[in-house]
Amino acid sequence: MTQSIVELLKDLGNFPKAYYEKNLRRRTGAGTDYLAPEYQDRVRRTVEAIHPKTMRLRVTEIIKETATAKTFRFVRVDGELPPFRPGQYVNWQVKVGGVRTSRAYSISSAPGQDHLDLTIRGMKGGFVSKYLLEKIEIGDSFDTSGPLGGFYHEPLIDGNELVFIAGGSGITPFMSIIRDQVIRDWPLRITLIYGSRKPSDIIFGKELEQLSKDNAAFTYMPVMSEAPPSYRGRRGFITSRLIKQAVADPAAKTFYLCGPNAMYDFVRPELLKLDAPAHKIKRELYGPPADVTKELGWPARLKPTTVFTVKVGDREIPARAGEPLISSLERYGVVVPAECRSGACSACRTKLLSGEVYMPPSTGIRQSDAANGYIHACVAYPLSDLVIRL
Ligand code: FES
Repeated sequence: MTQSIVELLKDLGNFPKAYYEKNLRRRTGAGTDYLAPEYQDRVRRTVEAIHPKTMRLRVTEIIKETATAKTFRFVRVDGELPPFRPGQYVNWQVKVGGVRTSRAYSISSAPGQDHLDLTIRGMKGGFVSKYLLEKIEIGDSFDTSGPLGGFYHEPLIDGNELVFIAGGSGITPFMSIIRDQVIRDWPLRITLIYGSRKPSDIIFGKELEQLSKDNAAFTYMPVMSEAPPSYRGRRGFITSRLIKQAVADPAAKTFYLCGPNAMYDFVRPELLKLDAPAHKIKRELYGPPADVTKELGWPARLKPTTVFTVKVGDREIPARAGEPLISSLERYGVVVPAECRSGACSACRTKLLSGEVYMPPSTGIRQSDAANGYIHACVAYPLSDLVIRL
């Protein structure tokens, strides 16, 4: 019989007593040896239930949020939904036009529900988002990773006064945190500054407005960069001046940023002008750069359309300079394990045997990996012919 997550945890919690009673290698103060053979099956089953590597999810509802964004509501069909920290993401595996690929999407629902929501907005020229928005139907099933990522509230480090700065679909992890706060009756004080191009682009706008009316702990400030003349709200960009209007004593707050890389590059210096400590500015990476040629250090002489050859095993695959290496490989059926697809998690770590790649400065590669010739294929762009080993 399959045990629920709660039953598994209870069972594991009861085990130290049984273990102690059997007097196995346990001394006062020495703790419990969770590696003992008696423990291993319980530990494995509990860890797999709480941190599944993969989940099979079925779409039960599709909610149209804006003209370009939809929420896909899922239930899990191969077990219980695991617990997660609001702000985390899953990696959604799909096959588009015969190409097996994946994308990381933040969960927009709160933990502890019988469903899990992913909210997707169409990207200009988006290969996967276009497919998801146009082709997915209720009843379709997919594999995803379990919940992943470190963009969540850390009470001891972050404190209780938070400022969320979202751009476009970067609202999704914040929505999970805010909805979780509703359930917990607002132990945190949150100010949300949400930048969009125009009012019709705002995702979850009505819900956010209502929440800010109903809860003194939540302040919502939408800001439009290209609003029509009739718009009465705030306009422009998220400057230090605007942040100061919304946030008293910015130096005492923790800032969370999620949105296009260009938004981060603009907002971070604005926050530093307000004496926000650099270590109190958290960022969720947001996929590979929309245009890698605009990234710091991109070789200006190189056209992004230049095609190089990548040798992997006995195969030779063409790869454009302006496209992440992982996408070029996937197009030819070479699947690289991936989770964040933003350069942060190391899941796509690949050995570069020869040749040269460009990786943006935001890539979170370990120094030892970089020194030993590893690259993150999800944000590596070929600058020459390459030989790699997966
Ligand atoms: S998939 Fe996370 S670093 Fe590439």
